[in-house]
Amino acid sequence: MSAVDPRQPPIIEVEHLCKHYGDFIAVDSISFTVHAGECFGLLGPNGAGKTSVIRMLHGFAPLSGGRLRVFGLDIETRWRQIRSRIGVCQQDNTLDPDLSVLQNLDIFAGYFQIPKRLARQRADELLQFFALEKKRDAKVGELSGGLARRLTLARALINDPELIILDEPTTGLDPQSRHLLWDRLQNLRARGKTFLLTTHYMEEASQLCDRLLIMDHGKILIEGSPTGLISTHVGASIIEVAGADEALNTFLDDHDIDFDTRGERLIIYNNGDHAVEHTIRTTFRPQQCTFRSATLEDVFLRLTGRELRE
Ligand SMILES: Nc1ncnc2c1ncn2[C@@H]1O[C@H](COP(=O)(O)OP(=O)(O)OP(=O)(O)O)[C@@H](O)[C@H]1O
Ligand SMILES: [Mg+2]
Repeated sequence: MSAVDPRQPPIIEVEHLCKHYGDFIAVDSISFTVHAGECFGLLGPNGAGKTSVIRMLHGFAPLSGGRLRVFGLDIETRWRQIRSRIGVCQQDNTLDPDLSVLQNLDIFAGYFQIPKRLARQRADELLQFFALEKKRDAKVGELSGGLARRLTLARALINDPELIILDEPTTGLDPQSRHLLWDRLQNLRARGKTFLLTTHYMEEASQLCDRLLIMDHGKILIEGSPTGLISTHVGASIIEVAGADEALNTFLDDHDIDFDTRGERLIIYNNGDHAVEHTIRTTFRPQQCTFRSATLEDVFLRLTGRELRE
């Protein structure tokens, strides 16, 4: 976990931020702060409002209400200064398919008026950093989805940004690419960069984020560190039982043990209680029980439910 320096102003300050599309409220008065060197996660089901927040954060979409400051500067009046110091990887790839990998990086460097020699040096470093050197002259339209994603990330770093905003950076990547990316992001964190990222991979959020929030229907449900949220909302351990029966339900009710139903399975929040674990193991369906540590995914599902969005 990165140490927060109270003398440094926050990198991102979001106060009562709102986004409306016509009558629809996509972001409903949310507030949060991200400090220098932190990796902060925005989590939530499809349609929760994450991308809407991110678009306002990099000046792509106007605010419908509230305040947003980045590097202490107001996004509504100072977005030009802010944009030169941030790198953004949008949810959708916005690469030019007719240009080569290198040309895509060169053109982007041009938007930031980076001198040609420096731009080429950075491009070479980034192609190496994201293991894309062999594709340097390939047309982007010929890249696989995962390679294009890696290039989008490389492009987001061309201006050597202080703040890196990543909207689902690893969606669609194979496990190898995902692990490569996690490794690269950790490397950038060690160099003092600040991150705001969205992801649907709870393992990714647990590994990368110092703090995160879970939002749904435009509102923040909870905010905290991954381990803090796990211990507060689901406890240390979980017992999963397939095809539970009346007797087990009665036992859980009688002993005031928290549980949820997830399809055909019972999710029992037993919080490391060995006596409960022993009873369930020996008395109720021992073959159909899984005993495991609680994860951020349990927190997410507990708070946002099982209903599909949109
Ligand atoms: N330009 C738009 N016009 C109208 N509605 C929009 C627009 N952009 C987003 N929305 C709606 O706002 C809500 C929030 O969308 P947003 O893209 O911010 O969600 P998200 O949390 O990023 O979801 P996902 O996980 O699917 O990427 C959704 O209901 C979406 O349909
Ligand atoms: Mg999104």
